[in-house]
Amino acid sequence: MGKLIIEGPAKLTGSVKISGSKNSALPIFAATLLCDERVVLENVPDLMDIHTMIEILSASGCTISFNGGVATIDPPTRPNTEVPYELVRKMRASFNVLGPLAAKFGKACVSLPGGCSIGVRPVDYHLEGLQRLGFSTTIEHGIVTAQLQKKVDEVIISLPFPSVGATEHIMTTAAILNGTHTVIENAAMEPEIEDLALFLNKTGCRVLGAGTRRIEIFGIGRAHGCTHRIIPDRIEAGTYIIAVAATMGNALIENLDVSHLISFFDVLESTGVNLSRLSQDKVMVSMDQRPNGVKIQVTPYPGFPTDLQPQIIAFLSKAQGTSTVTETVFKSRFQHVDELRRLGAKIEVNDGTAIIYGVDQISGTQVSATDLRAAAALVIAGLMAKGTTVVNDVDQIFRGYENLVEKLSNLSAVIEYQQ
Ligand code: UD1
Repeated sequence: MGKLIIEGPAKLTGSVKISGSKNSALPIFAATLLCDERVVLENVPDLMDIHTMIEILSASGCTISFNGGVATIDPPTRPNTEVPYELVRKMRASFNVLGPLAAKFGKACVSLPGGCSIGVRPVDYHLEGLQRLGFSTTIEHGIVTAQLQKKVDEVIISLPFPSVGATEHIMTTAAILNGTHTVIENAAMEPEIEDLALFLNKTGCRVLGAGTRRIEIFGIGRAHGCTHRIIPDRIEAGTYIIAVAATMGNALIENLDVSHLISFFDVLESTGVNLSRLSQDKVMVSMDQRPNGVKIQVTPYPGFPTDLQPQIIAFLSKAQGTSTVTETVFKSRFQHVDELRRLGAKIEVNDGTAIIYGVDQISGTQVSATDLRAAAALVIAGLMAKGTTVVNDVDQIFRGYENLVEKLSNLSAVIEYQQ
């Protein structure tokens, strides 16, 4: 495992270009399994998770090339519907190939995605959804087998919680079930769901209402090829915006979509950050004071995103006054708090809420990253802290941030990766 060595305090200035969205690209890659013809995906970020998904599709028989942000995916001539454990265990999003493979080829076997350091992440909504769509599902030795048993004409699937992964999995699977009319109620509304629906519709599928809590899918027999451009990564954009504000810097953030970050911008502005929306894809960020303390509720989209919760806590560690951050999506996602305390932050966690008592200064030391976004939070804290911060076990950060060291160096951070 490598480490990042950061000299602080930094003052980020200049500009940074945001990459394509990992969380949009992954389910769209899974959905390409429905297509009978070549699919071309543009603006695909070069990330570890994307390479894992490419390995999974290759193992399923697809032929894939990936160069300069463009992935070309040709459908399998001899499909393999058993996805190896070594690939699925690396990344939860790989579970979402189960439904598309089983819908297209009748039956598929995929390992359970297993535990995750941000808390328990079951797949019960996914499996119940597949069952309602007419599949049998069995779990044996940690391997889930889904088999198409019957044609369902009409089904309403009401999700107990607007799960992003379950919405995407059910939507993609239902899209290719010929003659099945599916309604997903309490669906996730994230921009990545809309991007997936746009992709599916380009292949000839009929998905209506994505971006609302009610999605309707009219299953069709076959999906053709298309070219699709992946939306910008709103979480990467949010991370850089926080990093600039946290270092009292000023920088231009390019290639983002401001319409995906409305509640995040509201929160940042209430802390005192200046955000000039120059256009739909450009924001100038500047900050000239310690942030004001704020109260944040982390909720499904359009609320404040859980994937920016660790980073905002790092930022608020130097606020003038006390802040609270209540997590409702992954209630135990606070592993970064212990590490932030090592840097001198004063934070308590109580029943899903972090209480952050702002301090004047934090200072560098050795810390360890427990997951992707925790790693991003520690990098931000390292940039804010006085002295040298070493973020150990940091490789997971490359699952979600393309060219992180180069991008931060260009913003004038002093940061180095060591194996
Ligand atoms: C996706 C994102 C992840 C983000 C999360 C929430 C991808 C690849 N990952 O993850 O970055 O943090 O959305 O915005 O897009 N749940 C169940 N049963 C299920 C499914 C989910 O109980 O079958 C629960 C989860 O434990 C969690 C909540 O629902 O508490 C939300 O999870 P979900 O939206 O499904 O997250 P992911 O799709 O895994």
